[in-house]
Amino acid sequence: MAFHIPDDKLAEIRRRADIVDIISERVMLKKTGKEYSGLCPFHAEKTPSFSVNPDKQVFYCFGCGAGGDVFGFIMKSEGMRFEEAVVWLARRYGIELPTRKMTPAQKEMISRKERIFALNRRVMGFYTDCLLKGTDAAAARNYLKKRRISKQIIEGFKLGFAPDSWDRLLRFLARSKVNPDLAVEAGLVVPRKTGNGYYDRFRNRIIFPIIDAGGQVIGFGGRVMDDSKPKYLNSPETPVYHKSKTLYGLDAACRRCREAGSVFIVEGYFDLLALHQHGIENSVATLGTALTNAHVRRIKGYAKKAYLVFDGDAAGIKAAMRCAPVFMAESMSASVILLPRGYDPDSFVFEHGPESFLSLAKDADGIVEFLIEQAIESHGSGISGKMKVVSEIAPVIGAMTDGIARTEYARYLADRIGADPGAVLDKILKNTGPGSVHTSSGLQRPGASINKSGTQDVGTRRIERMIIAMMIQHPASIKDVLSRDVLSKFTDAKLKELAGKIIEFPPTDQGDVSLLMNHLEDESDRQAVASMAMGAMGDTGIKADMRWNERSCKGLIDQFLAGCTKINNDFASRIREAEANNDQELIRQLLSEKQKQLSRRAGH
Ligand code: GTP
Ligand code: MN
Repeated sequence: MAFHIPDDKLAEIRRRADIVDIISERVMLKKTGKEYSGLCPFHAEKTPSFSVNPDKQVFYCFGCGAGGDVFGFIMKSEGMRFEEAVVWLARRYGIELPTRKMTPAQKEMISRKERIFALNRRVMGFYTDCLLKGTDAAAARNYLKKRRISKQIIEGFKLGFAPDSWDRLLRFLARSKVNPDLAVEAGLVVPRKTGNGYYDRFRNRIIFPIIDAGGQVIGFGGRVMDDSKPKYLNSPETPVYHKSKTLYGLDAACRRCREAGSVFIVEGYFDLLALHQHGIENSVATLGTALTNAHVRRIKGYAKKAYLVFDGDAAGIKAAMRCAPVFMAESMSASVILLPRGYDPDSFVFEHGPESFLSLAKDADGIVEFLIEQAIESHGSGISGKMKVVSEIAPVIGAMTDGIARTEYARYLADRIGADPGAVLDKILKNTGPGSVHTSSGLQRPGASINKSGTQDVGTRRIERMIIAMMIQHPASIKDVLSRDVLSKFTDAKLKELAGKIIEFPPTDQGDVSLLMNHLEDESDRQAVASMAMGAMGDTGIKADMRWNERSCKGLIDQFLAGCTKINNDFASRIREAEANNDQELIRQLLSEKQKQLSRRAGH
């Protein structure tokens, strides 16, 4: 539902919603020269590496690389999409948005979401009242007692009870003058199949409100109190509830996750409550779905490291296998805690206490090591066993976005099973072709990769990234980039597109990049721009104290034009041929030779 908000409106919001004001509400900022610094809200740290620059209107964390403009900050800290962040800020500052520019459907969508949030909050109150005060809720209160859930947890997580009735909620909604259509959309009531009218979705169940990190009630889960089916029922997909993005308990966990730098991921509602009740508050739960990239990205805003907690059975190992590539693709470090057979986190922590649980975490294997050990255990270490182990683990290592980690793990696997590292690496590289997981932008990830859009390599991309950094840090250079037609020589399509955007929406003389930010769709691009605007040179190969002037800009462009095109041309056809023959070894040789030549020319 992307809708267009005119640049002047965004500029107005940005003027009023000053980036320093907004961020100070969530981070203790200290003025240091022209900038402000503080402890990064997106990763755990002890010394401040998070900076905000009011002239450039960007924030950037030198520790974890999070960066962007004021909208990006709200998106990241509130878990919103761009449009939602714009609406959120506009409303806060009483700025009228040009709704006539939105289609009626878009207008409707925005206000509908708000209405669903408000309705869900009311309904949460209804369910908690039913649990705490209802004369028909004795069984529910007993059930929670039997599950050993404390009063604090019941209150803290706003647990509730949906009475055993087809219309108790409906009647409450009618009394509150809520339009039933809205309640249908929120997934709270269901239209009858025959005749008119509706009935309550949740009946005779313990209710778990699902609250997102911004504190909004986005949906509900409900559990029966006996053996009937389905054991759990969740809200259906609604405009505000998407199960593949939702983590139960995130609201309660996010602060602790940041302090601890880690997060425990469990599978169930009661598992989550049990951990919180035992003081392990950096815990969240997936709700009956496999872990998705969206889940991991969400978690990454709060913790560096994840512990996946699984029941100690075959299903637990399978689940770890499925999760692994997701963590690899998102470059998040993860370890696996496999509970003793017959336990789930709920029963384990009640029986053995939080210390035992935490000591399992201390001894937990990294997810790749864990999977390797499991594979060796199940296939043995004979010749055919080794081959099976490699086939099983290759896709996991192949999914890593970091080339160095990939090679290291390939070597580790080879050593562990006593195989030839080259052969193992080959097998893994075969798993990294088209169809495997890749990041959207070449900008964030240095390192050679062979992908379907053609052949790229470190040297060329590094110069292309340097040119982009130059354009951002020294906008006066843009006219030369244009007049010398530099972009047409770019080999990386993503970088070329970004450079094109910079030309179209150049930074101001003060280095304000907000207009450019408005026109970047990829989060990774916005982060990269923020980092370059702040002079973080991590992956551009430029020294942090680089001062651009006419001569150094001209030099870089000369170097790029003279070197890259020639070398690229020399190698392009040979590499294409090797690719057609799928000769990985030759491709690697050609790439490394070409890179050597490029680096020599580039003076690295
Ligand atoms: P308890 O029996 O209440 O302790 O649940 P559990 O979490 O130990 O059970 P289980 O391992 O069966 O389920 C793990 C999680 O998967 C649950 O917390 C739910 O989120 C989800 N789940 C389990 N059963 C169902 C179901 O029937 N429907 C749906 N939608 N989700 C379920
Ligand atoms: Mn359980």
